[in-house]
Amino acid sequence: APVAAVIPAAGRGVRLGPGAPKALRALNGTPMLIHAVHSLAASRHVSLVVVVAPADGPTEVKSLLDAHALPERTDFVVVPGGESRQESVALGLAAVPPEYGVVLVHDAARPLVPVDTVDAVIEAVRDGAPAVVPALPLADTVKEVEPATEPGAPEPVVATPERARLRAVQTPQGFDRATLVRAHETVTEDVTDDASMVEQLGLPVVTVPGHEEAFKVTRPLDLVLAEAVLARRRL
Ligand code: CTP
Ligand code: MG
Repeated sequence: APVAAVIPAAGRGVRLGPGAPKALRALNGTPMLIHAVHSLAASRHVSLVVVVAPADGPTEVKSLLDAHALPERTDFVVVPGGESRQESVALGLAAVPPEYGVVLVHDAARPLVPVDTVDAVIEAVRDGAPAVVPALPLADTVKEVEPATEPGAPEPVVATPERARLRAVQTPQGFDRATLVRAHETVTEDVTDDASMVEQLGLPVVTVPGHEEAFKVTRPLDLVLAEAVLARRRL
């Protein structure tokens, strides 16, 4: 089945601080979104990229994509995003024609994901998994707390899940198209990743190895790291 990639890029980037929408911030001179699109289009299997742009930005995003040519085999479409990531993904998914049997969902905020990670996700979906997530073991121990109502106040610790059983998950997450469509139609509560919606349908979600360079650019220090990774790649 042909593979489409939906790239939600409509977030503001509040945690990154003031400036342009996060996906349009430059990394070594090139907008983060362009790095992300090229990272997905680097896979020979990806033949359509759907970029979900900031609500007022589709025209700007279209001309950026025209200026940074994709491989010949890859088409692209730009659609305006929504209020939440979940809504933006649903809007992108609605722009994927039905012949694309495999859909990847990839954060524009993970611009440096290696093509081997993308291909590993695609392969696992093609092998029959309805949902696939790249995952890494955690470095930090994780505590569950009772969240404080005022910022900065001490928070009681409730539990410490066994670290060895926890994984940090990344994107691209890969799906059988019909499964992802049904998940978006069925699940109404807020989620922070797409695979959790498939879990809620009672369907299996599996992991493949993630990659350090697929980290999400969230806070200012992440920009420093991303530019250092690009410099190491000489880009
Ligand atoms: N996203 C989106 N539409 C939204 C919110 C987020 O398409 N309404 C996208 C972001 O552009 C990003 C991805 O979802 O590529 C992951 O979200 P996150 O890292 O949280 O980005 P932002 O929401 O932009 O950042 P912040 O939460 O700090 O504002
Ligand atoms: Mg966000």
